[in-house]
Amino acid sequence: MSKIRFAVAKQDAPAALALASPPKVPLAQPLFPAEGSKLIFALTATDGTAVADQTYRGKWLIVYFGYTYCPDVCPTTLMEIAGALNALGPRADMAQGLFITVDPQRDTAVVLNDYLKSFDPRFVGLTGTHAEIAAAARAFHVFYERNDTNDGSYLFDHSAYIYLVDPDGRFATAIGSQGSSRVISDALSALMAAR
Ligand code: NI
Repeated sequence: MSKIRFAVAKQDAPAALALASPPKVPLAQPLFPAEGSKLIFALTATDGTAVADQTYRGKWLIVYFGYTYCPDVCPTTLMEIAGALNALGPRADMAQGLFITVDPQRDTAVVLNDYLKSFDPRFVGLTGTHAEIAAAARAFHVFYERNDTNDGSYLFDHSAYIYLVDPDGRFATAIGSQGSSRVISDALSALMAAR
């Protein structure tokens, strides 16, 4: 009898922990959204404007999820996207770089805006409630998970793909974060030319 109770208690603990952590992409979910599927999100820009996927219809989107305290991958990726915008020249006007924070607690509008401006003033930073960010991440099949560090701070593990979205708001392709600016600008150029 006591053995059964113990087993039940043991099962309860992990379930409670799982509820307390940020939502994860289920393992069964494909790594990327289906090509051509609409990517729905509703978030807030750093100027306080409510934005959604429809806000950017007519533009190619270069979307990246991350956080400004990220020690390595995020800054590198933002430099690569900024380089790609420069390489596109005037065609960059047909594109919009979006950085969606997974750390709304520390990435306030001011922090996010200052950070992005240092890479390229054309970037738009998006934030939202935890639920809104989780919903956007689910749409893009983005994984992120907070990990507390020994010094009382925290980091995030997160997907590091760059998502290209067509002017109808449909998923076109994803590029690994270790791709160069050239890989990003070439992919966008090809997509723009094929349309
Ligand atoms: Ni990062």
